[in-house]
Amino acid sequence: MKLKHVTKMEDMGTRDNIESLFELSKAIKENPDKFRNLFTGTGKRISTLFYEPSTRTRSGFHAAAHELGLGVIDETAESSSCLKGESLEDTIRTFNGYCDGIVLRHEDTRAGERAAKVSSVPIISAGCGKGEHPPQGLLEGFALHQLKGGLDGRGIAFEGDLKNSRTVHSLIKLLAEFKDVSIYGSPVAGLGLPKQYINLMNKKGLRYNECEARDIPKDIDAIYMTRVKQEYLKNKSIDTQRYFMDKKRLDTFSKETLLMHPLPRNAEISPNVDSDPRAVYFKVAQDGIPTKQAILMAALQGEINL
Ligand code: CP
Repeated sequence: MKLKHVTKMEDMGTRDNIESLFELSKAIKENPDKFRNLFTGTGKRISTLFYEPSTRTRSGFHAAAHELGLGVIDETAESSSCLKGESLEDTIRTFNGYCDGIVLRHEDTRAGERAAKVSSVPIISAGCGKGEHPPQGLLEGFALHQLKGGLDGRGIAFEGDLKNSRTVHSLIKLLAEFKDVSIYGSPVAGLGLPKQYINLMNKKGLRYNECEARDIPKDIDAIYMTRVKQEYLKNKSIDTQRYFMDKKRLDTFSKETLLMHPLPRNAEISPNVDSDPRAVYFKVAQDGIPTKQAILMAALQGEINL
């Protein structure tokens, strides 16, 4: 398997390819020594171009690259000549001469496609605007697959800002590759899932139900909460209490229901649930390194051998 540009979830291919990436991520997670320094001595480098803040994705790609023996050139908006008016396209053209792959985060939803149009090296979109975040989709799909023993027949409820959450959009696209999946959406008022994702679920045969948070089935496989993306809202006074998760509410769900969140969180999940074994968001974040290694291997190598 070879990945070229990954600007949207479908660039990772259909179910077979996604399962190959899960398999590779699992092999890396279980036997990190086997994959360590795979690129050492090749002179290959990646660039992380981050025009928006990040804790996990930027550092996770740095850690993944270091594990693989890849060089890293790190650039943020604060250190970039974009402050002098340089276009994204010109920055990408320049970095094409410096590295073998570019991991991009940007506030423009179309930034990944814009970059891919002018880039001779793979572009990996790591969260662009209100669109998608494919590496996070793979990471959370992988975590769910591991924790639940597969994705067919699963039920997942999404709460919060479903309109602007790029991680939700990519995970829904990944889940749409699997069979008999039920999705529940419980958005904050005015922040519902964009029509294109509802249309995709209908086309792919997923069941989609929009409901109040209190009507989410108590035996659901996972509840996936998101913060309200204030940075994309004009109205800063959105009431987020409606989907607040605390221990009392979590205890109304099954002992098997996982509580997920892409992080960073704001007030939507009380810290009093962090020690509950169902609250897996920090554990899931650790899978960010092997899944990012898998993406880098698939983008920078030819064939992948497990
Ligand atoms: N989940 C995620 O994308 O986190 P960061 O914004 O910290 O990278």
